[in-house]
Amino acid sequence: MNILILGGGGREHALAWAVLQNPKCDKLIVAPGNAGIAQIADCADLAITEPAAVVDFAAENAIDFVIVGPEAPLEAGVADALADAGILAFGPSAEAARLETSKTFTKEVCDAAGAPTAAWARFTEVDPAKDYIRKHGAPIVVKADGLAAGKGVVVAETEEHAIIAVEDMLRGAFGAASASVVIEEFMAGEEASFFVLSDGERVLPVGTAQDHKRVGEGDTGPNTGGMGAYSPAPVMTGAVTARALSEIVEPTIAEMARRGTPYRGVLYAGLMIENGAPRLVEYNVRFGDPECQVLMMRLGAQALDLMLACAEGRLDDVAANWADDHAMTVVMAADGYPGSYAKGSAIRGLDAIPEDSSHMVFHAGTARTEGEWRANGGRVLNVTARGDTLDTARDRAYAMVDAIDWPEGFCRRDIGWRALGGSSGAD
Ligand code: AMP
Ligand code: GLY
Repeated sequence: MNILILGGGGREHALAWAVLQNPKCDKLIVAPGNAGIAQIADCADLAITEPAAVVDFAAENAIDFVIVGPEAPLEAGVADALADAGILAFGPSAEAARLETSKTFTKEVCDAAGAPTAAWARFTEVDPAKDYIRKHGAPIVVKADGLAAGKGVVVAETEEHAIIAVEDMLRGAFGAASASVVIEEFMAGEEASFFVLSDGERVLPVGTAQDHKRVGEGDTGPNTGGMGAYSPAPVMTGAVTARALSEIVEPTIAEMARRGTPYRGVLYAGLMIENGAPRLVEYNVRFGDPECQVLMMRLGAQALDLMLACAEGRLDDVAANWADDHAMTVVMAADGYPGSYAKGSAIRGLDAIPEDSSHMVFHAGTARTEGEWRANGGRVLNVTARGDTLDTARDRAYAMVDAIDWPEGFCRRDIGWRALGGSSGAD
């Protein structure tokens, strides 16, 4: 079959790598893709948030199956347009994608479904929001209601900090995305990500992961898109996973179906776990980046069969086959990230790294000019490895990092420290 993947980061490189291992895949196009993806698949320039353009491109290229990587095309209705055109697609409708694109919507669905999450209220005016903050006290969490490129969440340690965040957001810090804010209870505990596929009715777990959002070792410094991840997440024991499914994910899927907007695709539940009890922090309607890289490393070729069964509404036909393995990805970023950084520095040593089913360097933001790899983004490489234990996966990933000669890049040396039971590299 001919497959089109939409997106151009490390997540899509990992998806392409897994899909290509499956003999069902005859031809693969990734749009827009990136220089690393171009080593294994055709890349095409395409306006992926324009539904009509995606449908036309898929028709012209005899595409049988479209896998949507990021949330922006889903919010724009690409999955709806493909469905209308009779083209099979993996990814929810725009209405179902509101589980990521609107915090208020998610909270309302959780309340209707009885899914445990932080107590919350929505505000469009500063004064009532201030009263709420003073009444509930700090720490307290302020969120832009809409998509704000991962920057619309402030975990405020003081009431003053929370009030400043509300004022900034309601005065347009994130444009229309912060015309309303959600203020919610601070939840203590350990965070983990839980990934399931749903065909609208059934739910199939496809893995757990933990990531490191802060740029600095010891989980310090500014937030980033993610500096590394590992799978599975030890905190997601069998009992916690069962509770997350029965108390949070399954009631959400049932509520979406009841509303006439069934959820089809991958649902990424960000959870806070305290004393064995999971609560929902947020949903995303796509694979995480870089969490997808560790999930694909563990799932391999079967990922395509699972995504196909999901899109075709026959999840009861399939099961995920798990090896008793662990995977880790270490993000290499350009100096300065997540602040301003330079593009164009040379990255050497990449072509000498042997890649196999346990060792892969996924590219998030590279360019290839005159036979040389160059940095072309903030997060640039996702150095990913698999092993029988997390220690082995970690050692393999950092051995690859050490073989990469990129003086203008950096990574955290302590990815996985919590799960590895040690202290962070910053200690
Ligand atoms: P979100 O974009 O909703 O995932 O929020 C980003 C991060 O903020 C999460 O990964 C958590 O670390 C933190 N966070 C969000 N909501 C809460 C909450 N209610 N309590 C504690 N931490 C939170
Ligand atoms: N790594 C977090 C995300 O993809 O949202």
